[in-house]
Order: sequence, then structure tokens, then C-alpha cells
Amino acid sequence: MCGIVAYIGKQQSYPIILEGLKRLEYRGYDSAGVSILNHEIKTVKKKGKVSELEAAAISTNLEGTVGIGHTRWATHGKPDDINAHPHVSGNGRLSLIHNGIIENYSTLKKALEKIGHTFTSETDTEVLVHLIEEYQNKENLRLDQAVRRALEKAVGAYAIVVIDRENPDILVGARKSSPLVLGIGDDEFFLASDASPIIKYTNKAIYLKDEEIVTVSKNGEYEIINLYNEVQHPAVQELDLKLEELEKEGYEHFMLKEIYQQPVTIHESMRGRINAEDGWVIVGGMQQYMNRIMNAKRIIMAACGTSWHSALVAEYLFEELAGIPVEVEYASEFRYRNPIINQDDVVIVISQSGETADTLAALELAKEKGALVYGIVNVVGSSIARNTHCGSYTHAGPEIGVASTKAFTSQLTVLTLMALNLGYKRGQIPENTYRQLLYAMEDIPARVQKVLEQDQKVKYIAGEIKDYNNALYLGRGYNFPVALEGALKLKEISYIHAEGYPAAEMKHGPIALIDDKMPVIVIATNKSAYDKVASNIQEVKARKGTVISIVTEGDTKIREMSDYSIEIPETEEPLTPLLSVIPLQLLAYHIAVMRGCNVDQPRNLAKSVTVE
Ligand code: G6P
Repeated sequence: MCGIVAYIGKQQSYPIILEGLKRLEYRGYDSAGVSILNHEIKTVKKKGKVSELEAAAISTNLEGTVGIGHTRWATHGKPDDINAHPHVSGNGRLSLIHNGIIENYSTLKKALEKIGHTFTSETDTEVLVHLIEEYQNKENLRLDQAVRRALEKAVGAYAIVVIDRENPDILVGARKSSPLVLGIGDDEFFLASDASPIIKYTNKAIYLKDEEIVTVSKNGEYEIINLYNEVQHPAVQELDLKLEELEKEGYEHFMLKEIYQQPVTIHESMRGRINAEDGWVIVGGMQQYMNRIMNAKRIIMAACGTSWHSALVAEYLFEELAGIPVEVEYASEFRYRNPIINQDDVVIVISQSGETADTLAALELAKEKGALVYGIVNVVGSSIARNTHCGSYTHAGPEIGVASTKAFTSQLTVLTLMALNLGYKRGQIPENTYRQLLYAMEDIPARVQKVLEQDQKVKYIAGEIKDYNNALYLGRGYNFPVALEGALKLKEISYIHAEGYPAAEMKHGPIALIDDKMPVIVIATNKSAYDKVASNIQEVKARKGTVISIVTEGDTKIREMSDYSIEIPETEEPLTPLLSVIPLQLLAYHIAVMRGCNVDQPRNLAKSVTVE
């Protein structure tokens, strides 16, 4: 949530920052701003997207080799020009960008007002820049020390970067609970919320840890201290990211590119972890703790959004294949209960970004209570990846469309492999079933490709139902969470109200909504509940609902009952979510495009929710 980027070096900073902000726009896009330092600080900020900032900045001379930029997802204060970042200190000397929330801002603000500070915005951020100013003035501190003193007083989450007119050769950044990456070039430095604005210039980086403060200077030096004023010496890492991964590569939207990447990304998630011919599945992250995981009395999974849907599928997978009881929790609820967590529990946290604040907090809580915490994360080096005891990367590559697609199927892939690995070790799966599942798993990428070949048909159906205001998604068993995910995709990007339900629950409420204006999308691929789902379809038809069914290739019975059908190849039932979700992603995508919605940046949403 909120993207920050800063540059200091020999190049013009504004073009680098502007490009960086465009890459970070997935993190928030309700307003944007820059401050460029060149003897004086020039600030331009604007409500709306980065392109609106770019247009507004045309008439301003933004030359200078030091600068900061911000794209915002509003928390405190409405999205407008004034609340947009950067925020400038009362004396005009400092300018600051911030991602996170300063929870005690109102106490700090009152105290600062008492000693003469006046504020122009409604944001928590402005308090921070005034507090730094106060320490600079009162105690005549160096910028990093003034930042340190101010952050000692701040409660909450932050990634910040500050520039100082009187110290034009340095930038100071700091983080706690919100990510900040330092990119190290040749006599130039970058600070950003993630590596995407940096990779074009350097692949050397340091992921700052919580409560670290970095000072970078034009002479090519940097120093990192912590809040306790101790010098830190973190290792420099090599970024494993390619620039083309951040481009649309000919697709109209990132979301479409990411949907189409799934045969490859699922393969990447499996690579080196499975070999059907030789009969093994090994999920590296589990090996060191295998005994503890195998003997877990219970597995708790905590996540948010689409990642929570992956956890729901995993509940079926782990219980059926590994025989371990699973509880699935919304991370945001889990952290604020007093959940009973025992030392023989294993907590699995799932997150694409690895930065979701609630999931991170759930992780910390589980650790405090003595559970082993396993992370399933896409973004390498992210906070969740770093703070778990062990885990697996999903290797899906950068996901930029706000609505998650390839991250979901890569999470499912890793979770399926984990369930298979555990199930086999625990002697839960008969040898022949195990082998069948392994072969079926290896064949999933090819089958996903076949589903993608149905895209034109999905697009046609999208055209038929795009004008409805509601939709119902039904599924059973493994496909119930897929129904939830299909509904979420439609809500997120087309703003159509949609609900996902277990098919049999329809009779307990949603059936009252069904009439000729209600499209009902039914995932009808389960062999185990085939007839039951067929009956549910009849019930919808009897009430004039429009039925769109997702069926197994060759199915004629349900196809004939339905108004429209999309076929997916046959596979083993536990693996069907990997296929059945694809047409639902495409359906949501096409409907959103047809309704003229901004598919990659849907209103009010952000990809990485780093605030509670
Ligand atoms: C936001 C995103 C969703 C995502 C959720 C959890 O709401 O818009 O697409 O599923 O956060 O994010 P995570 O990065 O933890 O998977």
C-alpha cells in the first residue's frame, strides 16, 4: 500500500522516479507526488494516477539529481492534492514520503501544535516530517539522528524517505513493517518499496530490516543504523528479477498476461519438487522440520484475500491426502482473537506479496505462541518470507495486476505438493493413488494450456452476461473455494456484486435471489458430487436463472442443462481447482474490459495491503 521511490546519484532523478512510480502504481493510485532537490526543494503532487502527476509536472522545472516520489493509497485523509505525498516540514527544509500508518499521530500532532507547528494536511505523515524538523532544530542533530529520534516516538508502520535542503548530498530512509529496498548502483542509490523501480539500473540490493535507518550519499557511501543507534552490516543481495517480467509483453493488460502465464508459472512452482517417473515429491522448505510438520496435531492456515482461498483449497488437500486436521483463518481475525495455538501446531501463512500487514501480524503471534511457522510466499526477500521459520517460494514471478491470478495457482501447486509429500510420508496415500496424482500433477501445465484455448468462448459468454448486476458462483468440495475466488475476481475488477457459495447451501438463502437476471456460474466437474450439482443446476433453471457451467471435457448431461458451458480437461479431483479457476479468471477479465473498467488498477484496491 503506497509506493515509494527515491534516487540520489549523477543522473536526473525525476525521470527515474516517474518511471519507478509507474511500476509501483499497483500499490496504490489515488494520488501521486514528487519532490526534487536542486538548491531548493520543488514539490509537485496531484490527485489521481501517476499520469496525472506527469501532466501536472510538465510546466515545472524538475531538474536535479536527488529526489523522492510517492503513489498513494489513502488511509488518513481523503485522496486530494493536499494529502498527497511528499509532505514538507514547516520550515520548508525537509520533504518526506511515507508508506504505512503512524498510529499515535494525533497525540504527536497535538504536542507539536502546542509548540507552534501548523499542519496543512489531514495525514499522519505530515506529523512525522514536523517531528523530524523539531529534533533537527531543537537538538541540532544530523538528519539520520533526527529521523531516529522521531521514529522512537512513532507507533505504527512506516517506510519513509526524507530529503533535506541543507544536506543536499544525502537521502535518509527507514522502515518498520512496511518494505524498503536499497538499490546500490555505481555512485548512485535507489530506495523503493520493492525492487521493480531499481532492477533497470542495478541488481545489487539490501532489503532493510525493521527499525533500520539508512543514509545514502552522493559520494557512493551508505550507512545503516538501527533505532538503538547501532551500526548494521547487512549482506548485499543479488536481485533475481528481469525487466521484461515487469512489462506487459504485448498483452493488453497485466492481468491477461498473468492468466496466460499460468502453464509456465505452475511449472515453475513444481520445478525440482516432483518427479512422477521416479515417484517422488520433495518440498525443500519442509525437509528441515519434516518430523515436526508430519507430527503436527493440527495445521492452521492464515491468509487474506485470494491467498485465503488457496488456504481453503489446502484444507481439503491436507485433510484428504495427508490426514492432518486443518483450520483456515482470516489473518485479520486470527490476530485479534486470543487463538489457542499449541507448540505442536504448525501455522502456514500464505501471501503473494509477503507484505500483507495482517498476515505478518498473524505470523508473529503464532511464533510468540511457540508454533512452527511456514510461509508460502511469492515475493522473494519479502517480510513474511524473512520472518517465518521455514517455507517455500511459489516462483510465479512478479504479479502486477491487482487481481491475483497466477499467484493463486502457484500457491495451490505448492500446497498440493506439500500435501502429497506429507501424505506419502505419513503413509496416508496408497502407492497407486500417489503415482496417479504425481503424473496428473505433472500434466497440469499442459491442461491449463488447453483451458486457455477456450478463451474466445469465455469471451463470448462474458458478452452475454456483462450487463447483469449480480452473479452467483457455486461449487462443491475442492471447487467451493474456487467459487469464492471466481466471485472475488468478478467483484474486484468489474464491480458486479457476486457471491460464492457451496452449491448445496444455495437452498439456504441465495436461491431467493434467483430470477432471470441472475447468472449462476456452476463448477460442475466433481465426480464425487456430480448428481448433486446437477440437481442444483435444475433448481436454478426452474427459477429462470442463467446457468454457466464449468464441466469436464466430454460431459453432455450438464452441458445440455446449462445455457452456456466451458469444458476443462479431466484430472484427478484434488487437482481440479488448478483448472477450474482459469475460465473464471478469464470471465471476470473479459466482463471488466467490456464494462470499461480499469482491469489492472481497480478502484479502491491495492495489491499489497501493508496497513491493517
Ligand atoms: C489484496 C490484493 C489481493 C490479495 C490480498 C492478499 O487484497 O488485492 O489480490 O489476495 O491482498 O495479499 P497477499 O499478498 O498477502 O497474498
